[in-house]
Amino acid sequence: MARRIVVLPGDGIGPEVAAPAIEVLNAVAPGELEFEEHVFGGASIDAHGVALTDQTLAACRGADAVLLAAVGGPKWDSTDPSRPRPEQGLLGLRKGLGLFANLRPVRPVPALYDASPLKHEVIDRTDLLVVRELTGGIYFGEKTRDEDSASDACVYTRAEIERIARVAFGAARSRVSSVDKANVLETSRLWREVVRQVHGAEFPNIELEHVLVDNAAMRLVAAPRHFDVILTENMFGDILSDEAAMLTGSIGMLPSASLGGDGPGLFEPVHGSAPDIAGNGEANPLAMFLSGALMLRHGLSLGEQAAAVESAVDRALAGGLRTKDLGGDATTAEATQVVLNHL
Ligand code: IPM
Ligand code: MG
Repeated sequence: MARRIVVLPGDGIGPEVAAPAIEVLNAVAPGELEFEEHVFGGASIDAHGVALTDQTLAACRGADAVLLAAVGGPKWDSTDPSRPRPEQGLLGLRKGLGLFANLRPVRPVPALYDASPLKHEVIDRTDLLVVRELTGGIYFGEKTRDEDSASDACVYTRAEIERIARVAFGAARSRVSSVDKANVLETSRLWREVVRQVHGAEFPNIELEHVLVDNAAMRLVAAPRHFDVILTENMFGDILSDEAAMLTGSIGMLPSASLGGDGPGLFEPVHGSAPDIAGNGEANPLAMFLSGALMLRHGLSLGEQAAAVESAVDRALAGGLRTKDLGGDATTAEATQVVLNHL
């Protein structure tokens, strides 16, 4: 029976990279996948007044996997707390599906070493995974706002830290670098204590180090090869994963998987909706293809097909494919065709 995939193209370049991803997925798993599109983010605000409708959330819950492109744009940007924001759809979806573990693999492609602003010898053989806690912390704590002040509470429970720590240790080959700000934040001191306990009790064979987030930001560009798994809380993970994306030369290359609930996983590129280039047909669709590959592997247990997509992307790049963000002039459609040819 075909697997049901909810596709949320979202905003900006979202629809431009979602459509070719469906083509690539159909090419690699013909007849095995069924796609159902729903409006999401800003597009959903325009159509229904909210970024995520109950129907869309229900459709996602009932699917085998959810493939999301990007949300947001200047049209919906506002500092007025009463106005709906596209990002609320994404946060609602993560929370609504219980997706507490966000996995962002960072592996620079040798063919793209020259596209990275960092030196060859610095990024060479980097192969790391950011494991970001996704449904807690300052993103979801109580918020207040009045005329002259505002606050965002950062809260973590022992149980929330334990479960994400297990994901990180389970994914590590040699070392977990747990990133926090334990010299200042109480949540970080609990984080450190719980990670240490999970490590001692369940994963003594994996090396554990604790790194302060400012120092981690520095080491990520000074010596990225050092890292295997970076385990961190929601907001630090948001910031560090954009930084880590530049090791690959472009944020247009980085996929992510959000897992953890008993329902479907959510697969999405790390890049945003890039409103500045939306509609031009020049967006890099590769992170979207690679997100589709993560979906095949982690969401649908189609590991072979996932590897085929990843290999086609690698060979396309090795063959010289460069979209604008990578310093070339291939359009979205051309990039898609090259990847399809390699499949
Ligand atoms: C990400 C994005 C989101 C986040 C935004 C769009 C809410 O930056 O997935 O990294 O902060 O989590
Ligand atoms: Mg981000």
